Amino acid sequence: MATKRKKQATAKTAKAEAVTKVALVGFGTVGSSVARVLGAGKFPGVELTHIFNRDVERKKRSDGGKVVPASVIWTENIDEILRSDVDIVVELMGGLNPAEGWIRKALAAGKSVVTANKQLIAYRGVSLGKLAAQQGVHLRFGAAVAGGVPVIPGMLQGLCGDKVTRLSGIVNGTCNYILSRMETGADYATVLADAQKLGYAEADPSADVDGYDARAKLCILSRIAMHAELDPDAVATQTIATVEAVDFSYAKELNCTIRQVSRAQINSGAVHARVAPMLVPLASPMAWSHGTQNMVVVSGTFGGDVVFSGHGAGGEPTAVAVVSDILAVAQNCGVVRLPVRRRQVTGEFFAPHYLRFVVDDKPGIVSAISGALSKVGANIDSLLQRRGYPKHRLPFVVTTEPCLTSTIERAVASIARLDCMLERPLCLQILEVEDRPE
Ligand SMILES: NC(=O)c1ccc[n+]([C@@H]2O[C@H](COP(=O)([O-])OP(=O)(O)OC[C@H]3O[C@@H](n4cnc5c(N)ncnc54)[C@H](OP(=O)(O)O)[C@@H]3O)[C@@H](O)[C@H]2O)c1
Repeated sequence: MATKRKKQATAKTAKAEAVTKVALVGFGTVGSSVARVLGAGKFPGVELTHIFNRDVERKKRSDGGKVVPASVIWTENIDEILRSDVDIVVELMGGLNPAEGWIRKALAAGKSVVTANKQLIAYRGVSLGKLAAQQGVHLRFGAAVAGGVPVIPGMLQGLCGDKVTRLSGIVNGTCNYILSRMETGADYATVLADAQKLGYAEADPSADVDGYDARAKLCILSRIAMHAELDPDAVATQTIATVEAVDFSYAKELNCTIRQVSRAQINSGAVHARVAPMLVPLASPMAWSHGTQNMVVVSGTFGGDVVFSGHGAGGEPTAVAVVSDILAVAQNCGVVRLPVRRRQVTGEFFAPHYLRFVVDDKPGIVSAISGALSKVGANIDSLLQRRGYPKHRLPFVVTTEPCLTSTIERAVASIARLDCMLERPLCLQILEVEDRPE
């Protein structure tokens, strides 16, 4: 009996003293912030033991490197991490390759993985999740969407009891920074240059401004909220680069502003999804998000609308989400798993639209535009023309009553061929609370 008690006590002590060893793979903005947050938090039982990066001497000399405990092993050899006794590999390099191969090797070696890599989780999340389950280890990616805003853990745990049919959000901080600054009259090129100087936008900004970053995040959110697996390449995207300062003046007359919105709705088994600049009513929570803030609105059949909002990017907000995942893995917390089904994606929505034309003004233009719209069955709701623009380069706006995306696109294609059109018309969906996919 005494021996049994002694054994139990030893097991308890061993459990209390068990240390979860953590390796950081990638020591950039987020990786160095994770090291700082782990160091500041003094989380019992969690120890940073390894850091992998190329050119580690450069990383050691960086501000982040100087606060790393002396006991940490720095390496440029990923196999050193994979062969080691670390329990959690934290992948913070980004991109599909070589991250995917290394994560697969880590899972196969029985290590849990935490990552903030949205592209990897959007494209390979389902198969990586299966591999983790087979191996009996964890794969967590709470920082992959909306950085420091706990939208993924919130939906995984807090909303899994609802039937989510719709979600929309602002999930790209770069676009939100650009569009919310343009709201005050600045032009796209100036604001983009400022965003690049401040480090909010890459030298090649296309992943952000053309919507590819946001659609990866939309696919992850759709999988978690609606249990729908989507092919990211099949999600329709539209660039924000064709939005001009004048569009904000017209949007204001319509009690709206413009945001890059990522939206998905499930209807009769298909998912309607789109990432595009859209007119957002000033009364909508999405109009209130400024700068690099993120916001996601999730609509459930039983629980109604739930809004998540906060700092979507930045080293430290994102590191908080990563460290929260590390702690959850260290404490062996489970997540709710519900079956996910592959779904067809369509970019079709039934919504009112905003059309902005820039014309060399001549008689008969309005009737030509209304003729093209009526030919496809779209009705004009309003016509707006602000004073003060030259007649040879006149921007004016038509809004339509709700119609299908494909209908309005057919009309825009024929209007674009009119001689008086100086540039391709800008066509934006107007977001309404009650619009529905067809
Ligand atoms: N930054 C944010 O606000 C944010 C928010 C949410 C999610 N995320 C995600 O977090 C991840 C990391 O982002 P980040 O902003 O920290 O990126 P980052 O600053 O570019 O850091 C990436 C780090 O990984 C290293 N690295 C990249 N490829 C490598 C390779 N093949 N071999 C060795 N080292 C390699 C880089 O080394 P070098 O310095 O030599 O290039 C760099 O130190 C990404 O998946 C990103 O999408 C970031």
